[in-house]
Amino acid sequence: MRGKLVVGNWKMNGGLAANAALLSAIAAGWNAPTGRELAVCVPYPYLAQAQAALSETRVAWGAQDVSEHEAGAYTGEVSARMLVEFGCRYAIVGHSERRQYFGDTDAIVAAKARAALATGITPIACVGETLAEREQGVTEAVVLRQIDAVVAAAGADIARLVVAYEPVWAIGTGRTASPAEAQVVHATLRARLTSAGGQSVPLLYGGSVKADNAAALFAMTDIDGGLIGGASLKAGEFLAIARA
Ligand code: 13P
Repeated sequence: MRGKLVVGNWKMNGGLAANAALLSAIAAGWNAPTGRELAVCVPYPYLAQAQAALSETRVAWGAQDVSEHEAGAYTGEVSARMLVEFGCRYAIVGHSERRQYFGDTDAIVAAKARAALATGITPIACVGETLAEREQGVTEAVVLRQIDAVVAAAGADIARLVVAYEPVWAIGTGRTASPAEAQVVHATLRARLTSAGGQSVPLLYGGSVKADNAAALFAMTDIDGGLIGGASLKAGEFLAIARA
């Protein structure tokens, strides 16, 4: 059976004092039912804090990106091996904000996924169409192009991936894909993953997930959990989503 997973993506938010309160509230409120996992992906400078706050708890942590390079003259980059030293289980790759603002192409995203896998970190590979692409009717073509790049890079390690479908028009907008709309894309992704040997890969939905819409989304056949932005910054709301 595929595991259920809810991951918080803090994006570029946080501060030492606020993080301490948030991390301890999340850890205290999470009783880790069988088959369910909870994780937070924090900005790089807070990885040590997350590691200290969460290592004795049942909440996992990770980063929001990772370099495709192993080591060397890459100013500003952070390698997968460094993430391992800080206990990261996950690294998000290919988030739409990275693709949109920082030039992450399918090839770069694939290389980042490969770099994470090579050190034992689970990449959470994000795919999703823009509003313009949805209106042009190319949603399926876009998400398949994005997933195929990552699947090819993963090769025999495909079962170690996590994939998140995040329609760009639903991120931070308050506009969620309806459960049925999300399920259509998830079914497409599931079929592609299954044909490549990745039938067990957890498939998360992200984009304006809140406590009041999470249960309906997570009830869909091919939705195994969520990648949560804004709502992951409030412990009560994040835990309510995780329990949904
Ligand atoms: P919001 O939940 O704030 O819409 O963000 C979703 C997201 O981008 C998670 O990676």
